[in-house]
Amino acid sequence: MDSHTHVEPTVVVIFGGGGDLTHRKLVPALYNLFLDRWLPQQFALIGIDRLNQNDADYRQHLREGVDSFSRRGKTKDDEWGRFAPNVTYLSADFTDAGTYAKLSEHLGTCNKEWQTNAHHIFYLATAPSMIEVIARQLHQAKLFADEKHSRLVVEKPFGHDLDSSRTLNRQLTGLMNEDQIYRIDHYLGKETVQNILALRFANSILEPIWNRRYIQHVQITVAEQVGVEHRGGYYDRAGALRDMIQNHLLQVLCCIAMEPPVSFEANEVRSKKTDVLKAIRPIPRDQVSQFVVRGQYGKGAIQGEPAPAYRQEPDVPSDSATETYAAVKLYVDNWRWQDVPFYLRTGKRLPARVSEVFVQLQPVPHRSFPANAYANWAPNRMAIRIQPEEAIQLRFQAKQPGPTLHLRPVQMRFSYKESFQTPTPEAYETLLLDVIRGDATLFMRGDQVEAAWAVVQPILDDWSAHPPLDFPNYAAGSWGPEEADELLARDGRHWFAPE
Ligand code: BG6
Repeated sequence: MDSHTHVEPTVVVIFGGGGDLTHRKLVPALYNLFLDRWLPQQFALIGIDRLNQNDADYRQHLREGVDSFSRRGKTKDDEWGRFAPNVTYLSADFTDAGTYAKLSEHLGTCNKEWQTNAHHIFYLATAPSMIEVIARQLHQAKLFADEKHSRLVVEKPFGHDLDSSRTLNRQLTGLMNEDQIYRIDHYLGKETVQNILALRFANSILEPIWNRRYIQHVQITVAEQVGVEHRGGYYDRAGALRDMIQNHLLQVLCCIAMEPPVSFEANEVRSKKTDVLKAIRPIPRDQVSQFVVRGQYGKGAIQGEPAPAYRQEPDVPSDSATETYAAVKLYVDNWRWQDVPFYLRTGKRLPARVSEVFVQLQPVPHRSFPANAYANWAPNRMAIRIQPEEAIQLRFQAKQPGPTLHLRPVQMRFSYKESFQTPTPEAYETLLLDVIRGDATLFMRGDQVEAAWAVVQPILDDWSAHPPLDFPNYAAGSWGPEEADELLARDGRHWFAPE
């Protein structure tokens, strides 16, 4: 997002235009793009959903969403007044061919008025079961026919497992080109996730040490304080492994582990990430418990406030076996990473909201200072904070001031906020603008999604064959089940607390 390059006329059509994602994320993001003058002059947003309402009511509903969820806070009358006329609402049934005829007419009218061939972005913010249905209807209405100007955006979850993701890929690529499909993983739109690539590939200092010789292990933590909120129905069919590890955490792992791309061309970057996923050592079905831990929160307290157990959340069965926590140990079997463990963990109702990567370097091979100098010694470690307060910290040793020789770890710190002093765009702003511009670098290619499912599939298989007997096994507000600590303790390690 570094220059206001020319953006061509565009219509964004959101299926699920009345839904939560549209309200909380998509429209606030589009509105910020509008305020920052990233959207083209000729821009329209069409929300499609079942609810019967007129344009004015719909616009008001969206404005409330922007007021509550935009990083900029409340809308101003004059600015919203310029944005709102671009928005229309179509009350319609996604399964009815008539909906697509109306849509087609509407799109045709825009083209006529603007005297151009606008880009059409079809954004599926719907239940996963509707993806194929809507895509097929769009195809039948010939709305994908112009390959250069039409794109389909698909939210996660992309499939429910390896088989269903393959089926969905086959179905969609039977209706359009792979290049027209933008599979979202919103973590890839986060500034700091992109910054991992800048850190690694725009600096020469790290590359010589970024390998098994110098790096002892890597930890990736994505901790959430929230529970499942109002999404119990969806979440109970997903669980932490599908909801977070299969996509967000594995993508962060790919950014840490990928080989330098030859260029930042979309397929080149995605191929390098896919190589990492394909190199992940398959977890043998009969050894899943040695590599993976699952957990579910029971009642507890978050910041002093009582928090209910997962099984008491709305739309969650009282005997649910769904995991709200997962920790996984993975190896990337290639020249660079052979035998370096990558520990991944994520969970809901943990004590803090923090996403962080720790790259633990090897200890020095020989201690040349006197033994008592090492009392507070700790090996080098890089912490890459994805959120909140995006930052990178490098821990190294310094001599403590004084007449005796004592070493103490100190931190070298880069903070996004302090260094750049400009507001950071939300992930969805970056991703929506990329779709509008037709840049797929930060989106998942079909084979990439399947490779990620292949990593977690043995775990899914084992878990469905062996329902958990100890759920709930961690209290809301704690750092997860004890077994997750044991997973690292077996290797003589522990999870690092957020920096
Ligand atoms: C979503 C998951 O993909 O990511 C949610 O479905 C999760 O369960 C969310 O809460 C976390 O995203 P973020 O940006 O808040 O870290």
